[in-house]
Amino acid sequence: MLRQELPKMETKEFPGPKATAVLKKRDESIPKALCGTTYPVVIRRGEGAMIEDVDGNKIVDFVGGVGVLNIGYTEPEVVEAVKEQADKYFHCIFNVVGHEGYVDLAAEFDKIMPVRGDKVKTYFANSGAEADENAIKVAKAYTGRRSIICFSGAFHGRTNLTMALTAQKSYAVGMGPFPSDIYRAEFPNLYRAPKGYSEEEAISYYLEKLKKIFVEGTPASDVAAMIVEPIQGEGGFIPAPIEWVKAVRKICDENGIMLIADEVQCGNCRSGRYFASEYWKEAGCPPDIIATAKSMGGGAPISAISARAEIMDAIPAGVIGGTYCGNPLATASALKVLEIMKREDYAGKADVLGEKVLARYKEFAQKYPEVGDYRGLGAMIGIEFVKSRETKEPYGAFVSYIIKYALAHGLLLEAAGEGSNVIRFLAPLCITDDQLNAGLDIMEDAIVHAREYFAD
Ligand SMILES: Cc1ncc(COP(=O)(O)O)c(C=O)c1O
Repeated sequence: MLRQELPKMETKEFPGPKATAVLKKRDESIPKALCGTTYPVVIRRGEGAMIEDVDGNKIVDFVGGVGVLNIGYTEPEVVEAVKEQADKYFHCIFNVVGHEGYVDLAAEFDKIMPVRGDKVKTYFANSGAEADENAIKVAKAYTGRRSIICFSGAFHGRTNLTMALTAQKSYAVGMGPFPSDIYRAEFPNLYRAPKGYSEEEAISYYLEKLKKIFVEGTPASDVAAMIVEPIQGEGGFIPAPIEWVKAVRKICDENGIMLIADEVQCGNCRSGRYFASEYWKEAGCPPDIIATAKSMGGGAPISAISARAEIMDAIPAGVIGGTYCGNPLATASALKVLEIMKREDYAGKADVLGEKVLARYKEFAQKYPEVGDYRGLGAMIGIEFVKSRETKEPYGAFVSYIIKYALAHGLLLEAAGEGSNVIRFLAPLCITDDQLNAGLDIMEDAIVHAREYFAD
């Protein structure tokens, strides 16, 4: 069973002949923007944390569809649930014909979403970007305000509004004009705080920068929401320090601002809790609104927006919804994913897995000076590579080399961070110990080869 197997390359060259043929056809048929050369991998089938490519190469996946596959590829019960639903109906459009999958999933999410308030309501969209857009709509409808505060390093998607919210403008080349009334504060990146600052001083520094927006950007009374990733994904796998979150929650409360947690990537058991906002709630600073997507559908496109009923019921009819939102195949998948992840304590699995990864990264840091930092929560872990620990200059070329080398040897990795110098760990949470160790061994081998390659 592929589910239990270890990485093994069958072709002499990678990509092999079949993948090469598919990629050639891809390049002829699909816009260049989607035809990158970093990942010459074409899947034939996936099980658990393993991919078999069209040439029979077996690859262990530390990317998991960029945070979509916490439950793993083709989890048998999920496959069964989707097949059963497919036999009944694919679609009905919820605005016209109700279906139980939608209602049951919303009721389940209402119980577990760690937003502020007792009575919670949830509705669905199709993608992470749509969930974030909807969270903003909800905040605007409830507050009657226009401005939004987002953060450096943030990634919220590729729609017009979410391109404007996303920090890296390489995702928005030539795409303006963008919505106005969006203001960006600095995300509290403790590794890159001003030199010599203690954690406490760094947090105060970032909070002062945030408050300055009310002086120089927009009056606080115009701000509908702040949108924060509890663990920044694309920005470099950086957890928001809880003391900072507490202070942000206080600023929001003092000014009638909604706090939105974007749990698109870090939600659904990745962080060691079902939602990372549980850490916030335990610390007394829950968000008002949560947007999540990715692993909630286990690969089926679905996203969710949750908030207390008072907020949700402020949205005028007609303003939210959409043809495919809460599609029956996707809700069937999401309901089964939720059932399994709760039953089998996937959040607990993430903690155990994360500890193992951190222990190995600690060894890497002791051996290889290019490792500047490693950090994370649960099994959402980043390892950051720098040219010098003193200057902390991002070493993106080193990471590109590692990714390429690793893939050719049976490990799929992906970069993150402004300088593409962080490797993200997002392996399916069902990965076996042997697969994890095999992947980490390939990664170490890739680091050793990169050091040789870049040696003066
Ligand atoms: C934190 C976060 N928000 C939003 C998105 C956008 O999600 P999607 O690509 O499903 O639109 C992503 C995608 O990576 C993300 O990581």
